[in-house]
Amino acid sequence: MGAFKLHAPTASNAPAALAIGKLSLFSFRNYTEVRIHCDAAPIVLVGANGGGKTNLLEAISLLAPGRGLRRALLADLQNRTLSSEPWGVAADLDTPDGPLVIGTGRAPCSEGTQDHRLVHINGQPARSANALAEPIALTWITPEMDRLVGEGATARRKFLDRLVYSFDPAHGARVRRYDKAMRERLRLLREGRAEAVWLAGLESDMAQTAVAIAAARLHMIRHLRTVLAESDDPFPRPLIAARGTAEDQLTDHPALQVEDTLRAAFARARSDDAQHGTCAVGAHRSDLRITHRAKNCPAESCSTGEQKALLIALMLAYVRLLTIQRDMAPLFLLDDIAAHLDSCRRAALFDALRALGCQAWLTGTDQDDFAALAPYAQFFRVTDGQVTLL
Ligand SMILES: Nc1ncnc2c1ncn2[C@@H]1O[C@H](COP(=O)(O)OP(=O)(O)OP(=O)(O)O)[C@@H](O)[C@H]1O
Ligand SMILES: [Mg+2]
Repeated sequence: MGAFKLHAPTASNAPAALAIGKLSLFSFRNYTEVRIHCDAAPIVLVGANGGGKTNLLEAISLLAPGRGLRRALLADLQNRTLSSEPWGVAADLDTPDGPLVIGTGRAPCSEGTQDHRLVHINGQPARSANALAEPIALTWITPEMDRLVGEGATARRKFLDRLVYSFDPAHGARVRRYDKAMRERLRLLREGRAEAVWLAGLESDMAQTAVAIAAARLHMIRHLRTVLAESDDPFPRPLIAARGTAEDQLTDHPALQVEDTLRAAFARARSDDAQHGTCAVGAHRSDLRITHRAKNCPAESCSTGEQKALLIALMLAYVRLLTIQRDMAPLFLLDDIAAHLDSCRRAALFDALRALGCQAWLTGTDQDDFAALAPYAQFFRVTDGQVTLL
């Protein structure tokens, strides 16, 4: 991620937004076939539990690389009652560079090929879903993410890494390379037949990659902190930090020295790691620490509503950062967003979304929760896989 100026967009200088104009779903989860036409304004999807609101956001999340907001298998996205027809999602989008048409879906089953998804960009087949990283900027908040604020380091670290991917697509390959070397080292240690030189080669690769991973995480944290410091949202401001062996040392030691420290730590831990079947140190142990700044309280000890508000503050900062870096406001999916927010915080969120100028997709069971958005949002009712404009 290169250096860029951080000027929060205001209504008058807001960059153009990425916006869906038409969305079609085929054989996707509880949808047989549905088409939605909309404009760049926020969209509110309301309806009773089980109608298909989250499924619709999940379909949109597949316009970006990856497995979508539920990290589902391709087979799970298949409408169970129409199993012969592979699912598909298509969208006509407006972008600052002009119209964009994206189609994605499960490849028809054929013998000898693994389940995979196909992607077409402006009618041309793409080599993989990674090609969507360039034209699409998209992020989300889901109720499952509430837990990550208060729960374990693994979920928070993965969340931080996902934030980094959107800015630095090479980050995914780095993390995969590190995990592969770590698994291979553990396998050799467990089998007890590892030659020292072989282990040292893997540990060297792990040390180098761990430092690159930690540097990318710290870079992201620095930018997020800058945006958070400039924000005037009424949400509690989170203090964020990436903590881990490499992250801690990189703040005041040169990268090569940190690599040496890690290499030595891996070598020292060999017999313990062999015994426990895990790696005691490394990039896979890092954490994203979140603290409620005003209360000087770790997020884990905050109330459910406070945790939700901290997460929203963080994601609003992330959307601002994406907007600045991509020079276009991303699609922003907010699932079940009214839960745990009092009416003041809800109003503050809607104001913030308006100021961001992004096409936000919000879901909820109660239309009244979104009354403040009524003057400028588009409302749809979602019932049993059917979507109707309200
Ligand atoms: N592969 C599938 N095929 C058919 N139906 C599915 C499939 N996967 C999930 N569903 C169904 O889709 C329905 C809608 O799920 P979804 O999570 O979108 O509901 P929702 O509107 O977000 O509800 P809530 O308000 O409870 O969050 C559920 O009843 C679920 O059982
Ligand atoms: Mg839902």
